[in-house]
Amino acid sequence: MSETSPKLRAELEGIPTYKPGKPAAADGPAAYKLSSNENPYPPLPGVMETVAEAVRSFNRYPDMACTGLVDELAERFGVPASHLATGTGSVGVAQQLVQSTAGAGDEVIYAWRSFEAYPIITQISGAASVRVPLTAGEVHDLDAMAAAVTERTRLIFVCNPNNPTGTVVRRAELERFLDRVPGDVLVVLDEAYREFIRDPEVPDGVEIYRDRPNVCVLRTFSKAYGLAGLRVGFAIAHEPVAAALRKTAVPFGVSQIAQEAAIASLRAEDELLGRVGSLVCERTRVVEGLRAQGWTVPETQANFVWLRLGERTAAFAEVCEKAGVVIRPFPGEGVRVTVGESEANDIFLKAAEGFRREL
Ligand SMILES: Cc1ncc(COP(=O)(O)O)c(C=O)c1O
Repeated sequence: MSETSPKLRAELEGIPTYKPGKPAAADGPAAYKLSSNENPYPPLPGVMETVAEAVRSFNRYPDMACTGLVDELAERFGVPASHLATGTGSVGVAQQLVQSTAGAGDEVIYAWRSFEAYPIITQISGAASVRVPLTAGEVHDLDAMAAAVTERTRLIFVCNPNNPTGTVVRRAELERFLDRVPGDVLVVLDEAYREFIRDPEVPDGVEIYRDRPNVCVLRTFSKAYGLAGLRVGFAIAHEPVAAALRKTAVPFGVSQIAQEAAIASLRAEDELLGRVGSLVCERTRVVEGLRAQGWTVPETQANFVWLRLGERTAAFAEVCEKAGVVIRPFPGEGVRVTVGESEANDIFLKAAEGFRREL
């Protein structure tokens, strides 16, 4: 066998691998998974039926243009179909956005800590990451982000609400920021958790994108719509950007099963958003419960809460796991805990209370 191995792009060296949330143990005490911001509700029966029907033809390639889904989304959001681009989850679309705008010598700006895929997809494209620390209140520092723009900047992610802190940026500050960003820099409003927002001051990115050609909105069926395992997300963007997304898409990347399930979910939106409402009530209960125990919890508008535990992060995660809930530790920084079924939230609250008493 030859001693040499294929030459790989130097940019791939040192890329952090994406860490998926740990699954709940099959045989251990941890019975609930609160580590991936998933929807705890099982699929709706109507969506399951649609999927069962779509399964019958998976010997065929899917509709590459996702025509039915795109038409439905165009109507739902009041945007031209040509402004829509679908992909394998919104993370797939995010990767295409970076690929379409930034390469070696270019810069991509995002807050930190934020969604852990941003550094990965930026490095894969060969561009440099410019990380702007969150404020002391765990919120995007939009002034610092605007100040970080250089002539090399190609794309800026604004994750609203932010993963993993759940914090939001509001209308006035976002508009002020966008006014400062040059028109040739793409601003991606990542709204994966949009449906969980209850703060009326948080703008709907789709309204912002309408008269700003350099703004693009990312949405997903993974969270509120409960289709995480089917991998379908989309962007709403003006034509040059949407067209670039269609060029960079993996052909047939969204299965017919995912397309049909997404359409069925849009049609069952009332019921799905009712479930989101219940999760938002649970979120309030979890946040208030933690605060009553003495924890500092940033205001969250997503389906998770953030506790900045610093050096105690790993110990806290271990206590939770022993109690029966798997959460997401970011070693040395803090933990992100998804709001799940009420039994899981009860277990988490009890574990947090026990941990606090030991401090
Ligand atoms: C902020 C944010 N954006 C995008 C995604 C990607 O979701 P998906 O690829 O399932 O649409 C996630 C998933 O956790 C997220 O937290």
